[in-house]
Amino acid sequence: MKVLVATEKPFSGVAVKGIKEVFDAVGYEVVMLEKYTEKSQLLDAVKDVDAMIIRSDKVDAEVLDAAKQLKIVVRAGAGYDNIDLAAATAHNVVAMNTPGQNANSVAELVFGLLVFGVRNFFNGTSGTELKGKKLGILAFGNVGRNVARIAKGFGMEIAAYDAFCPAEAIEAAGVKAAKSQDELFETCDIVSLHIPATPETKQSINYALVGKLKKGGILVNTARKEVIDEAGLIKLMEERQDLKYLTDIKPDADAEFAEKFVGRYFATPKKMGAQTAEANVNAGIAAANQIVGFLRDGITKFQVNK
Ligand code: 3PG
Repeated sequence: MKVLVATEKPFSGVAVKGIKEVFDAVGYEVVMLEKYTEKSQLLDAVKDVDAMIIRSDKVDAEVLDAAKQLKIVVRAGAGYDNIDLAAATAHNVVAMNTPGQNANSVAELVFGLLVFGVRNFFNGTSGTELKGKKLGILAFGNVGRNVARIAKGFGMEIAAYDAFCPAEAIEAAGVKAAKSQDELFETCDIVSLHIPATPETKQSINYALVGKLKKGGILVNTARKEVIDEAGLIKLMEERQDLKYLTDIKPDADAEFAEKFVGRYFATPKKMGAQTAEANVNAGIAAANQIVGFLRDGITKFQVNK
């Protein structure tokens, strides 16, 4: 068996070593395609592989067409909006993710961004503290739960809303369950986004919703750029000088945000949420084990294109 690790944004060295050890133990060959710049490099690399590990790398119908031997693609991470699931199914390819494996890493970055934000981007002026502020967590999955856990350490008040998670499950985690997305934005000082990019969520974080934030409100996005209505958010931030937007995913209109909202907008140069040695090891090795589990034993746990 031949496995391709295709990571435009590479894993840490220790994670690559761990992935190779998993495949060495079962005699699979591993080929690496890191930091590639052209899709043609990916199309070439997938030609003769049986399995693939990817991160946010795009696996669309063209890639699947080129990957004639491919049986399984595992997204080492949570969000799988970068895989064309219908095309994978049509090509008889199993698609999986590795839920939870990088959740703590993403959650810690939320607080890195927040401390940076409330301390005025470390510009030397007097800022505010997170203690006593109300944090709204939009979607209470693996990342949202880790955000709640860490927020307790900061002494924050915490609320969450999740369209798919019952209020009782949220309350069982010691978090107030908001009745709606609107209520979450209306009642919180800070809202942290942890929703996936789906047809329902795309551009759902819009002018009207973010406009419900209290004075001095902060929106933090470590989820996906697609969930933001960028034009609506720009209009709102022009009208409300008190709002800040901190994001780990550069918007398409990054230059406009940066120019218009100096001191109120920050975007990491590259998505950094899952970019820790620990998250890379956890997600990368989980992906490798899932590939072996599927190819050797037919295990389809975590398949997302059923
Ligand atoms: C995820 O969905 O797991 C995160 O967004 C991390 O993405 P990355 O592997 O591209 O850093």
